[in-house]
Amino acid sequence: MAERRIAVFGAGYIGLVTGACLAELGHHVTVRDIDPERVRILLAGDVPIHEPGLGDMIARNKERLTFTQDLDQALTGAEIAYVCVDTPPSASGDADLTRVWAVIRSLATAHDLRAVAMKSTVPVGTGARARVLLDEIGLSHVGYVSNPEFTAEGRAIPDFMAPDRIVIGQDDTAAGALVAALHTGIDAPVATMDVKSAEMVKLASNALLATKISFANEIATLCENTGANVTEVLGAVGMDHRLGAHFLRPGIGWGGSCFPKDSEALRQMASNTGFHPQLLTAVINVNNIQKRRAIQHLKDELGDLAGRHVALLGMAFKPGTDDMREAPSTVLAGRLLAEGAHVRAWDPLARPAAGEPWDSVDRFPSPRQALAGADAAVIVTEWPELAEIDWTEACGVMRTPVLFDGRNLLDPTRLREIGFRYTSVGRP
Ligand code: UDX
Repeated sequence: MAERRIAVFGAGYIGLVTGACLAELGHHVTVRDIDPERVRILLAGDVPIHEPGLGDMIARNKERLTFTQDLDQALTGAEIAYVCVDTPPSASGDADLTRVWAVIRSLATAHDLRAVAMKSTVPVGTGARARVLLDEIGLSHVGYVSNPEFTAEGRAIPDFMAPDRIVIGQDDTAAGALVAALHTGIDAPVATMDVKSAEMVKLASNALLATKISFANEIATLCENTGANVTEVLGAVGMDHRLGAHFLRPGIGWGGSCFPKDSEALRQMASNTGFHPQLLTAVINVNNIQKRRAIQHLKDELGDLAGRHVALLGMAFKPGTDDMREAPSTVLAGRLLAEGAHVRAWDPLARPAAGEPWDSVDRFPSPRQALAGADAAVIVTEWPELAEIDWTEACGVMRTPVLFDGRNLLDPTRLREIGFRYTSVGRP
C-alpha cells in the first residue's frame, strides 16, 4: 500500500477518529486544530473526547500521527487534505459552512496537494461550491472528493476500520482513486459516484435511520393504546430481512450530534429547492412528541408535577458517551422545571453545557442518591448499570415508587412485583 501524507483539519470527534484510523492504516497524518487548548491536550498524550479505543490507537501510532495548531506544519508535504470541521445548524436551519470554507481557503499554499476529501456533513451542492473556491485560490489541479463518514459514537473505530461501505463521490477520477486507496486494508465495498450523490447518501442514511426509530416510537404508542407489546411486535417485524432488526428500538426519542442536525438540515435543504418533504417532517415531529411523552406518563401517575421531585436516570443521549448534544434529557429537564418540579439527575459520564436547564438540576454521584426521596424516576439513558442496581432497595428510598422506563430496560413484571408503579414504552 502507498503511504500518503495527510493533513486532517479539525481535531474534534470525526477529525480525531479519521486521523487516528488513517495513521493506523499506515499513513502519515497531521491533525490541525485552531484551538490551542485542544492541541495542547493531544500533544500531552491525552484525548479530549470519550471514544473507546481511540486513546490506544493514537498512542500506538504516534510515529505517524501528530497534532498542531500551525497551518504550515499541516500543509507541508500534504497530498490529501481531510476536512473534518463541524457544520452546526445556523439560525436559518441550514448547515453553517463557515469553518469548511475557512479550511479550504487556507489550503492555497499547499504545493503537494492532490485531493481535498470532505468528511464533514454538508448539504448537497457543497462540493460544487468548493470546486469554485479551489479554482479561485489556484488549486484547479486539486481534485475534490466527498467521503462521508457513517460512524456512531462509542463504536467509531470499528465503524471506520470495518464499515459496511466506503462512499467516494468524485469530480475527478484520479483524486477519487487516491482517496479510495487510502483505505487499502479495509475490507468493504467502495461505492463510487458523483459528488452530489455522495453528499446525499450521508443525509439519506441518517434520515432513514431516524425514520425507523420514529416509526418504532409511533408503533409503541399504538401498542400502548391497544394492549399489544411493542417488543414482541417489532422483534418479529425486524425478522423480515427486507426490513432489518436495527434501529427499531422505541424509546424516549433520538438525539445526538447527527440525527437531529442532519434531519433538520435535509428538511431545510429540501425547502430551499421548493420541496416540502412530508415524511421527513413527520419523522422530526414524531420525535419532538416522543421527547415529551415521559411528562404525560408522570402526570398520569402523579397529577400536577409542581413541587414534585423527579429523578432523571441518565443524561447522555445514549449510553457509553459523555455527549449531551440534543439529548432528550435536556428537553425533559427543561419541561419538568417549567412544570414546577425539582429535578435530580444521575449520569456516569455526561457533561452538560453550563446554563439552563442543567444549572437548576441537582446532580448525584449514584442512582440511589438521585432516587432518595424522589416522587418519580425516569430512565432516560439505558446505562447498563441501571439494570444492575438493587431496585428493591431503590423502591424503599423513594417517596412514591413511580418509575417510567423510557428505554424498556427493565422487566415490567419484576418491577411491579417489587412495588413500583412502573410504565415503559409500548409494553403493557
Ligand atoms: C448516528 C448514526 O448511527 C451514524 O451512522 C451517523 O454517522 C451519526 O449518527 P450516533 O448519533 O452516534 O450515530 O448514535 P446512534 O447509536 O445511531 O443513536 C442515535 C439516537 O437514536 C440515540 O439517541 C439513540 O438512543 C436513538 N436510538 C437508536 C433509538 O432510540 N432507537 C434505536 O433503535 C436506535
